[in-house]
Amino acid sequence: MSFDEIIDRRDTNSSKWDKMERATGVSAPDAIAMWIADMDFRAPEFLQDGVRGLMEKANYGYFAGDDKMCEAVSWWMSERHGWEVDPGWMSSTGGLGHAIALLLETFTDPGDEVIIFTPVYHEFAFKITKANRVVHESPLVIRDGVYHMDLEALEAGLTGREKAMLISSPHNPAGRIWTPDELRALAEFCERHDLLMIADEIHHDLVYPGQIYTPFLVAAPEAADRSIIITAASKTFNIAGARLGTATIPNAEKRNVFRHALMVHQTQPNILGVELTRAAYSPAGAAWADELADYIDGNHRLFLDGMAQISGVVPMPMQSTYLTWIDFSNTGMEMPDVIRRVKTDARIAPSVGSDFGTGGETFLRFNIGTPRPRLEEALSRLQDAFSDLQ
Ligand SMILES: Cc1ncc(COP(=O)(O)O)c(C=O)c1O
Repeated sequence: MSFDEIIDRRDTNSSKWDKMERATGVSAPDAIAMWIADMDFRAPEFLQDGVRGLMEKANYGYFAGDDKMCEAVSWWMSERHGWEVDPGWMSSTGGLGHAIALLLETFTDPGDEVIIFTPVYHEFAFKITKANRVVHESPLVIRDGVYHMDLEALEAGLTGREKAMLISSPHNPAGRIWTPDELRALAEFCERHDLLMIADEIHHDLVYPGQIYTPFLVAAPEAADRSIIITAASKTFNIAGARLGTATIPNAEKRNVFRHALMVHQTQPNILGVELTRAAYSPAGAAWADELADYIDGNHRLFLDGMAQISGVVPMPMQSTYLTWIDFSNTGMEMPDVIRRVKTDARIAPSVGSDFGTGGETFLRFNIGTPRPRLEEALSRLQDAFSDLQ
């Protein structure tokens, strides 16, 4: 399959393209959507076959289960990530946003603090706040150009009301892959302060060639009892519309409490999400994911090199994901002016860094999960929009 093929996603009820004007204010007919985190590639044949298999059965009634899918998830984790995980520990959720909301509701109380490492995926803070819990920000620090956690500062600032820690591993934005040592340090921190660890590993597949990703429970198996790992095939295979995620809970008591919460909320696995995930987590899916990772790596090199040519613009080096993170603080411009140039002059809709919490204020996030010819066009418009910078 060619990732270079440009498909028109407008008028498909795509959030990224059809909500762009409403959400970002970018309205030009030739605008390029580089905000919400999905990709602009045609679905591969093995996913289409999965859907066709479902259609051929011509039966969409109440759906009995996700056992086969959980086995496929377990196979994928073992095969791709060296994580041996019992499918019996898994529960299906309506995606990871849903999983996070329900986990917070189930395992924390109103007023409890939840630690997040900012800047991070904006929904983390949103879900915590909407659940009447309190965001405890631990700002990442930039060392050697990339993000590091500052656990000493976090420890010094603890209030005693913290109940949980929520991490993005790899990290959205900028795709930093936390090392086994860093993950173990987090596990020790959670143990010392009796915190529940919620590790969101949704971005674990789009790892650039030569980079090594370690799942949290491979790095810190001793933390299994206090950890919940949430994953989904949705980022890798671009099936977020099928709203399906997996919460893996090794501790039986916690698992039962969470399953009860799922039942209370009438959350049953979505038949389409199950079929797509099964089709994705297959040898054909593995081969495709490798090709995709290579392609995204090529996009990442092109875009970061091109953006670095703009005077004062500093792209953060990446190890994974299609969510680039570009710092404009050295341009000498105010952010509203930067944003105006990007949105109005370049006709590009990025995500605005301040939405990602403390530390994001001078950044924009550009989604490069798109065919290269379109990425080249976006890059050329951005270079033109800032061509006067010296
Ligand atoms: C770290 C992270 N978690 C979760 C999600 C969203 O998951 P879902 O679409 O399953 O709600 C995203 C989407 O960008 C993400 O970056």
